[in-house]
Amino acid sequence: MNEKAGHTFLARLGKRRLRPGGVVGTNFLLQEFKNSSDKAILEVGCNMGTTAIELVKKYHIKNYVACDLDAKALKKAMLNAKTNKVGDFITFKEENALHLSFLDESFDIVINEAMLTMLSDPHKEKALKEYYRVLKPGGILLTHDVMLRTDDTAIQKEVIGNLSRAINIHAKPHTKEEWNNLFNSVGFHIKGTKLGPMSLLNPLGMIKDEGLINTLRMIKNARKPENKKQFDLMFQTFKKYQNELGFIATISIKK
Ligand SMILES: C[S@@+](CC[C@H](N)C(=O)[O-])C[C@H]1O[C@@H](n2cnc3c(N)ncnc32)[C@H](O)[C@@H]1O
Repeated sequence: MNEKAGHTFLARLGKRRLRPGGVVGTNFLLQEFKNSSDKAILEVGCNMGTTAIELVKKYHIKNYVACDLDAKALKKAMLNAKTNKVGDFITFKEENALHLSFLDESFDIVINEAMLTMLSDPHKEKALKEYYRVLKPGGILLTHDVMLRTDDTAIQKEVIGNLSRAINIHAKPHTKEEWNNLFNSVGFHIKGTKLGPMSLLNPLGMIKDEGLINTLRMIKNARKPENKKQFDLMFQTFKKYQNELGFIATISIKK
């Protein structure tokens, strides 16, 4: 059986939140949405629409554009939004973060979780330049990514290689300093960051993110013969590198 990208595989098992720091990282960012019901919001890498639906419901946002490269994920997102009765408030669009079709200075907030880590370094910079371009002056960029917690370059190389194999995508996490330098180099001012352990496949983190029933359902799916090999590799890799890998959630402002 063909192995899928880690996030597509986890989504198929029933995981709804596909970000490294789970609700802890996301909730740190979501504070920026208070009083944002009339703001223009862009989410890049929305996948099945989990964050879009949560935000529109909680903050009554009327102008929310959610985009992704993956047409299949967008189809699921549209269905999820309809089921949650927020379909009228979210515009789903197939878009590539590297070449957004939106006009300059058209959004107040851009949110992009668990995506930059999956891009090469030049593409990270290209995507960030696009976010800078489409944000209004003073606009807010919210990101949530994987962070390397070691400066030892030999260990970094080992972790990156094994992480990429486990999630079936070439991942390239950065250290805190490297992430900060990248945002600054594009012109953003960093207002705040939250750091913590990876919770994506940590049993307690999964219960916090997905609830007990959904976590048990996911684990049951993960034990099926067609899923077991890929799930075990991801689970063991995240466990092995729990000290070397963490999450970083960043609030940046367009100067
Ligand atoms: C790990 S998932 C995270 C999904 C969601 N943001 C979350 O936190 O649960 C990364 C998402 O980014 C999307 N993606 C990857 N590269 C992209 C690009 N260049 N432009 C737009 N979306 C992209 C993938 O299709 C996938 O849905």
